[in-house]
Amino acid sequence: MDPILAATHADPYPYYARLRAEGGLVFHQGLKLWLASSAHAVAAVLAHPECHVRPAAEPVPKAIADGMAGKVFGQLMRMNEGERQRCPRSAIEPGLALIDADEVKALVGARLITPDADGLYNAMFRGPVCVVAALLGFSPAQGRAISELTADFVACLSPLSDPAQLKISHAAAEQLRGYFVELLDDPDNRSTLLAGIRQRFAADFDTLIANLIGLFSQTYEATAGLIGNAFVALIRNPSLLRDSTPVEDLIAEVQRFDPSVQNTRRFVAAPCEIEGEHLNPGDVILVLLASANRDPQLNDSPDAFILDRPHRQSFTFGAGRHQCPGQMLSLGIASATLKEVLAHRPALDRLNWKYRPSLNGRIPVFSDQLLKSL
Ligand code: HEM
Repeated sequence: MDPILAATHADPYPYYARLRAEGGLVFHQGLKLWLASSAHAVAAVLAHPECHVRPAAEPVPKAIADGMAGKVFGQLMRMNEGERQRCPRSAIEPGLALIDADEVKALVGARLITPDADGLYNAMFRGPVCVVAALLGFSPAQGRAISELTADFVACLSPLSDPAQLKISHAAAEQLRGYFVELLDDPDNRSTLLAGIRQRFAADFDTLIANLIGLFSQTYEATAGLIGNAFVALIRNPSLLRDSTPVEDLIAEVQRFDPSVQNTRRFVAAPCEIEGEHLNPGDVILVLLASANRDPQLNDSPDAFILDRPHRQSFTFGAGRHQCPGQMLSLGIASATLKEVLAHRPALDRLNWKYRPSLNGRIPVFSDQLLKSL
């Protein structure tokens, strides 16, 4: 096991506990990375002004720098510090926080959900982006096309992608851009989310479009993983599969207990001291969000799955200046999706799953036997 393989391991949590026992912030010789594994160290790294989201020497990964996907990547708030992060964020964050839970429920409910492995795949990997597209004012047909394009586009975010996937990602970025150019030109658009973002957005048109595409890419895998990991929890603890289980509580505990985003990275921009360790420019820190969630300093009985856990604390959505602005939205989409699928009484015990290859995402894909109605 190593801290990157841990993200897709069947049970990485005992390993994370061993890492925490070795120290909150420790250098891993094999990977040549610092590991932040305790809640204290994770909070300190995410709050530190010299811990940046991209290395200074490579703001855009070389493999994608020459195409449209690279251009979008370079403008995302997620991939920038300073004004290039704050400016888009201040335009986008307020609207995301105001989205009405009933509207999300209605949008999820309007999609066809079938109780088989294909249906579950669509509910995880297509539904969430379709909801975000609808909230921005796209039609259902456009939403379906956009969710396919997002699946292609996100290849540019993974170092595991091959040249063929990157080529497709550039093409998808071009097409997503085209969808937004048309949407922003449509006088009949009724989306209050889009209107608010446009009104507050102070940067140029290309940065606006890149960050709107960013809403799809940020939604795509992380929300699929949250929904999928909730089904894994139900399969592992069949006693939770009762009509009386509050789905919102289940999702809230799943995001802490078995997060879809297991780690993120920070790149040290200037000499600094964190947790008593001296760090140098160029150092890389693997921030183990999933490990911090299981730190007993953060949550009592952290390895217990407790639906009505009092004072639940979690780093799954990050912390500090890059903390996820889509948290409420993704929890709402995941809860509504789970309710819809469970209403079909799927035979979850007949499902198998494998985690998608990833360096940081924990995203199960279900397969094999068809889910049969009970
Ligand atoms: C379960 C689902 C999700 C999880 C676990 C998740 C997690 C995260 C995390 C950990 C970060 C911070 C990354 C870092 O600091 O290195 C982040 C940032 C971000 N997330 Fe999410 N996210 C989810 C869903 C969403 C959704 C639905 C949206 C929007 C529609 C969204 C939009 C964003 C954006 C725009 C950022 C960048 C913020 C910034 O850099 O200031 N996320 N997310």
